[in-house]
Amino acid sequence: MSVKVFAPATVANVACGFDILGFAVEKPGDEVVMKRKDTPGVEIVEITGDEGRLPFDPAKNTVSISVLKYLEHIGKPDLGIEISLHKKMPFGSGLGSSAASTVAGVVAVNELLGNPLTREELLPFAMEGERIACGAAHADNVAPALYGGFVLIRSYEPLDVIRLNTPDDLYCAIIHPNIEVPTKDAREILRKEIPMKNAIVQWGNVAGLVAGLLQEDYELIGRSIHDVIVEPIRSILIPGYQQVKDAALSAGALGTSISGSGPSIFSLCKGEDIAKQVGVAKQHAFAAVGVETSLYVSKI
Ligand code: HSE
Repeated sequence: MSVKVFAPATVANVACGFDILGFAVEKPGDEVVMKRKDTPGVEIVEITGDEGRLPFDPAKNTVSISVLKYLEHIGKPDLGIEISLHKKMPFGSGLGSSAASTVAGVVAVNELLGNPLTREELLPFAMEGERIACGAAHADNVAPALYGGFVLIRSYEPLDVIRLNTPDDLYCAIIHPNIEVPTKDAREILRKEIPMKNAIVQWGNVAGLVAGLLQEDYELIGRSIHDVIVEPIRSILIPGYQQVKDAALSAGALGTSISGSGPSIFSLCKGEDIAKQVGVAKQHAFAAVGVETSLYVSKI
């Protein structure tokens, strides 16, 4: 018996919610195929779509590391498992690439063993994959990849993850410029302390965004998508950032910011037609500064 699991790309932070807010999109995403084998141990037998960049060593690959942690937890550390990983999104894109692979891996092994753990119980294993990928076990990509929709990480210690309402007509246009920004680097450049006045603006926006999602108030969602702490620093790594953001807002986006640690830029939009127009406007703005892009428009 083999299982095939798809896990989607995710937009972490959602502007004001650094490390505590994220949402999943419908596409792109990664795929893991997994089956039992007679000999003991976890083995990665195939990786596609990675241009030879990911390790086959089970002690180094984020997918197998999460699977190994899971097997230890359920008391079957020597179970024989074969993993095939199919990467279908770019590395260092800010789309939660490592999270998608890791989540597909832990969901696949759980499925293969008859689902002994709930989705909620799988989250810590997926977070271990993030620790390996970027040095921090942040959950704002893995949690939405696991649950779908919008997710709030209210607390890390203890872990307290809340699934939020997603308004019916909320769409996302994500533009990925063809450059790579490793999450580890994008975290290292951030300030360790912030002024109180920025913190007040930021938590007002986080609260506004969550209220907007719950009340399905699109205008409030738009007013709240502002980040005065992380975006001003990270946007320096993205050529043409301000032009692309301005183009998205002029084309009707509710709000626009950096997806995860960048360089992808997401826009939340009311309705699919506006999301498509916003995507095209962002493509043109990047083209004007000579940057090639991929565009993903998706319902949330
Ligand atoms: N919250 C993480 C960060 C997400 O912004 O560093 C990385 O995709």
